[in-house]
Amino acid sequence: MANRNDLSPRSLLAQAMHYIDKETGAVVPPIHTSTTYARDADYELTGDYVYSRYGNPTDTPVERLIARLEDGAEARLFASGLAAATAVFETLSTGDHVVAPKVMYHGLQDWLRRIVEKRAVEVDFVDPRDLDAVSAAMRPGQTKILWVEPAANPTWDVVDVAACAEIAHAAGATVGVDSTVAPPVTTRALSLGADIVFHSATKYLNGHSDVLGGVLITKAEDAFWEDIKVVRAKLGAVMGPHEVWLLLRGMRTLSVRFERHSENALRIASHFEGHPKIERVLYPGLPSHPGHDIAKRQMTNGYGGMMSICVVGGADEARKVAATCNLFIPATSLGGVESLIEHRATVEGPHSLVPKNLLRLSVGIEDADDLIADLEQALERMN
Ligand SMILES: Cc1ncc(COP(=O)(O)O)c(C=O)c1O
Repeated sequence: MANRNDLSPRSLLAQAMHYIDKETGAVVPPIHTSTTYARDADYELTGDYVYSRYGNPTDTPVERLIARLEDGAEARLFASGLAAATAVFETLSTGDHVVAPKVMYHGLQDWLRRIVEKRAVEVDFVDPRDLDAVSAAMRPGQTKILWVEPAANPTWDVVDVAACAEIAHAAGATVGVDSTVAPPVTTRALSLGADIVFHSATKYLNGHSDVLGGVLITKAEDAFWEDIKVVRAKLGAVMGPHEVWLLLRGMRTLSVRFERHSENALRIASHFEGHPKIERVLYPGLPSHPGHDIAKRQMTNGYGGMMSICVVGGADEARKVAATCNLFIPATSLGGVESLIEHRATVEGPHSLVPKNLLRLSVGIEDADDLIADLEQALERMN
């Protein structure tokens, strides 16, 4: 039998880290609903838990599994992706400086703009593909965080995480990576130089569009991490135990789901590249994608299901394609087993920099031929 310390991510996931309940032999971890934990006759705690806002026994196996998959020291679950990501920036003080991407998940970008206004934290938005721009933005001693996405949502421009981390570390900054679209079965951002990895667990980790959650994983249990844990406990941005249990259940099939997402997306991207109704296909898995070589280094086990297509025409044509799909569901979010299509510029609003003819696809695990046929018929009806 394989040594349990050497188990691959596939085995760790499928067996929830080889879980067997010591008392009952159950192979599925239980849901602990208690919010509080008893003390003994000397008023000492009887176990590791005090009160569920600080941590609870349903979270622990899931956090350990995610930390192990990412090769991190510790992980903490949060009530949503944004609750986790904003906890990182809640540690900042007035006058601190952040460098973040121009193209990134818009919800977090909105929040970064808000802390600029409300707290006098300074943020520079740069194109992190341009390493000179990243270097120039760093203010040694003042820049506390460099935040990047390995594949920027929704253009899927590929960012060289290791090169960015080297620049940020030389300036004394902490590197946070939003690896939501690149789960640890394909990318381990800590090994690329990140200090903190973030996932919206709502997406690939859970994979079934039925749980909101977020997670942070740290490379080191340092003062910055301790501060993040205080933010989590004091703001109370924790997941409920039923959601955590569902997340673990979803994660047990992550490796097979991600393989199918990746296979399907590559089929669709290859099929529609050069299509007369499509101006551009944006998918890092395509050898023609400008960031393909970096993506190949960073995404070692598939490029995932996220891609975008820019249709010939503008916003009206793009929205019409989304509306006439029969299988792709016109909805936001990503990483679920069902395929979604969305007109990103509409969702992001008037400040969006996203091309108006761009449709973001979250390719699910359906039959690739059915998905291709669905897009073909929608493109056919465009004009
Ligand atoms: C890349 C990325 N990061 C963060 C988030 C925020 O996560 P949540 O919706 O779980 O708060 C999202 C959600 O769409 C996302 O796509």
